[in-house]
Amino acid sequence: MHPPCRIDEPNGLQWVATQDGSWTCRVGADGELFHNPAGAWSEAWQHYAVPATEGTDGDHGPQPRVLWDVCFGLGYGSWALLQRLQASRPKPLAVQVVAMETDLRLVVCWIPLVERLVASGHLEPGTRLVAQGESSPGAPLRFALEGARGRWANLVVKPQDFRREVQASMDPVDWILHDPFSPQRVPQLWTAEIFGHYHRRLIERNGRLLTYSTASAVLGGLREAGFHLYRTPALGLKRGGTLATTHSFQTPMPAGWSTLPESDEAALASRSGVPYRDPSLMGDAHAVLAQRNAAQRTSVLPKRTSPKTHRGSTEPHP
Ligand SMILES: C[S@@+](CC[C@H](N)C(=O)[O-])C[C@H]1O[C@@H](n2cnc3c(N)ncnc32)[C@H](O)[C@@H]1O
Repeated sequence: MHPPCRIDEPNGLQWVATQDGSWTCRVGADGELFHNPAGAWSEAWQHYAVPATEGTDGDHGPQPRVLWDVCFGLGYGSWALLQRLQASRPKPLAVQVVAMETDLRLVVCWIPLVERLVASGHLEPGTRLVAQGESSPGAPLRFALEGARGRWANLVVKPQDFRREVQASMDPVDWILHDPFSPQRVPQLWTAEIFGHYHRRLIERNGRLLTYSTASAVLGGLREAGFHLYRTPALGLKRGGTLATTHSFQTPMPAGWSTLPESDEAALASRSGVPYRDPSLMGDAHAVLAQRNAAQRTSVLPKRTSPKTHRGSTEPHP
């Protein structure tokens, strides 16, 4: 099967087929894949759409809802979650998706990708993404996701570093999909301060943050921000994803979900759980890593080294 659309390869963007037949991207031959090699759609469904909604039956409709898709990329997380909401009863009245993405070379992919997801049966027949109005440089891009029976969602894509948006916004949010590249590569996008902003923005009842990472520094930052943490099922070589909630999970856990395993709790009680920090929300990778290394060296917590996985590979997380 060919990719959803042509992209201008000299600009470095490349399509890559994943094992479930859906397409992901990378930037440059040695760039990190946008998704788990086991499946871009499977990851969006399993790590984002299902844990965003499972166990909330009846709680997400019919009032309007707000979704932040942080590091929107190809938008798989939003497409999967919107499909799941569309199939739920009652459906939300309307969903406002606020997507944050710095790489606008991806814009050409969104409409053809939605068409492909309809053709492959992942999105309901008749679903289409429609651009709204003219775009101007630096301004938000607006789209509507429409189905055969009306509009599913309004989408506004903010073409800027999401750290600016999370500081500026005061709106209550129902779901946050947090999907930057790996914490090893961009620790400045996984800090306790970012998670603190998320915690303040998420609605008190049923506010949920989803991410693929299970790295100890990430879990440490989320817990410090006040989240309750759960592990979602493994996909491919990954250990699973993380569901972070503003309230502890009341109903029995869905199959395959758990509270954090003992090994993670042990890591969190050691220097491995020291979070990445960046009170400025403007720092670079070097500064954030140096700060964490220094904090680990002077920590009163015991040392511990354990293997962790991300995006389908296994890497140590000191
Ligand atoms: C792993 S990919 C996201 C995949 C996406 N969630 C999807 O389902 O297609 C990471 C994305 O984050 C974007 N990005 C990197 N730094 C960013 C930042 N500071 N603010 C917003 N987006 C950023 C990259 O351009 C890339 O598209």
